[in-house]
Amino acid sequence: MSRKRMIYEGKAKILYEGPEPGTLIQYFKDDATAFNAEKRAVLDGKGVLNNRISEFMMTRLAGVGIPNHFIKRLNMREQLIRKVEIIPLEVIVRNTAAGSLSKRLGIEEGTALPRALVEFSLKNDELGDPLVSEEHIAAFNWASPQEMDEIISTALRVNDFMSGLFAAVNIKLVDFKIEFGRHFEGDLQRTILADEISPDSCRLWDFDTQEKLDKDRFRRDLGGVTEAYTEVARRLGILKESGQGADIVDFSTGVK
Ligand code: TMP
Repeated sequence: MSRKRMIYEGKAKILYEGPEPGTLIQYFKDDATAFNAEKRAVLDGKGVLNNRISEFMMTRLAGVGIPNHFIKRLNMREQLIRKVEIIPLEVIVRNTAAGSLSKRLGIEEGTALPRALVEFSLKNDELGDPLVSEEHIAAFNWASPQEMDEIISTALRVNDFMSGLFAAVNIKLVDFKIEFGRHFEGDLQRTILADEISPDSCRLWDFDTQEKLDKDRFRRDLGGVTEAYTEVARRLGILKESGQGADIVDFSTGVK
């Protein structure tokens, strides 16, 4: 790892220079943070699971014509991605009330929303990623009107596709957060999905028991965080069954 030049270190991932111009290597750490990094832990194997789950989601989304930054997985913790200029917005799609929406509007967690809601937060850790409206986004030019059209329609397509994908394995997609980037190819500029899609960035509940299978297990001290992520991977068919448990992976090295 030391041979690669680090471009950026985030809370859960590191970006390194890629082997070709226009590419980067995205490395998934085991670090977990919540409440703007006030709460921290290292969860053995989380990075390996998120690398695999995000690969699966991005590959499936590309398969239904939703362009994204994923090129290929390199090893247990790294994937090759297209370099993009990240649009400084967290795009949140909600199907069921939970988390900050429940708190903000006093709607009980688990209440089905009348329709999918799309919300935006400004990506700014110092400010705690504040909720912003399309008015703010336009006024401060964080994204162009054309980019916003693409972002909203893509976010809703991602929601429809992922809701079905998870429902097929008895998981309710409660809400999720995605990010978009500007991809430049010569004179051509496209808005593509970037970052990651994993139980760190989604709320996933078992349809029957409502058991949480996502990062809320960490945020709310419920325990069994990597076990829940492993269960998501297992249901999606990413981890092959072997004997009693899922796949044998040495999470510390990522060697199978
Ligand atoms: P929220 O209810 O806390 O606003 O979260 C909405 C969704 O966004 C939920 O699926 C978790 C995800 N999320 C992130 O991916 N990163 C974040 O920093 C936050 C606050 C939420």
